[in-house]
Amino acid sequence: MIVPAAGRGERLGPGLPKALRPINGVPMLVHAVRALSAATSVSLVVIAAPEDGVDEVQRALAEHGLLDGDGERAGLLVVAGGDTRQDSVARAMLALPDDVDVVLVHDAARPLVPSSLVDAVSAAVRSGADAVVPGIPVADTIKTVDEGGRVTGTPDRSMLRAIQTPQGFRREVLAAAHAAADPTAPATDDAGLVEALGGTVHVVAGDEEAFKITRLLDLVLAEAVLARRRASGVLS
Ligand code: C5P
Repeated sequence: MIVPAAGRGERLGPGLPKALRPINGVPMLVHAVRALSAATSVSLVVIAAPEDGVDEVQRALAEHGLLDGDGERAGLLVVAGGDTRQDSVARAMLALPDDVDVVLVHDAARPLVPSSLVDAVSAAVRSGADAVVPGIPVADTIKTVDEGGRVTGTPDRSMLRAIQTPQGFRREVLAAAHAAADPTAPATDDAGLVEALGGTVHVVAGDEEAFKITRLLDLVLAEAVLARRRASGVLS
């Protein structure tokens, strides 16, 4: 499991690196790592931290009992990420042991991902798919626009899916996709790199709770989800 967590989160306003922004007093990344570690299909989590924030991330994980004081714990590794998400994933891939043959990539910015979704994506890859993404139907009508702000089309909404993470891959498929990627036009997700190579990407049912935290309102929603989980006895 690779967790790109090197984004600065500028859309959330100034402050800590995005992955360390708290939700209910606990950094987003800690929520995400707990969820991923609870998935039965995950044996190793490699986190790509901001290049100048590896120590800060290690400290935060240690504070919440996920790493020892010396920055170690079997099953969890922090490496330096890069300038783009694509670069951060590529750097984390270098830290994977040789015997890993299925790789999932999960954004730290989706801290409330249910473990069941992680296991579902992993199972779909293990049952033979090259690449698997979770998707949910879109609620809004989506339009394409040109640079002048003029609408150029309205795709049929029933054919659209909002794609989440974790995205799952056979390791050699993900490695080949990154090796062929254009560093000057970085992709916003890993499946996009597989598509660019002509690979087949399968969609499985996503989960609304795997939403991405981008704006301040998303933090409010995340706290509400945690409050509901707590009220129903599901701890996070
Ligand atoms: O910017 P965006 O919301 O698409 O970021 C998705 C994920 O990629 C986040 O978890 C972010 O931390 C990560 N990222 C990264 N390295 C970068 C930029 C973003 O790991 N240079």
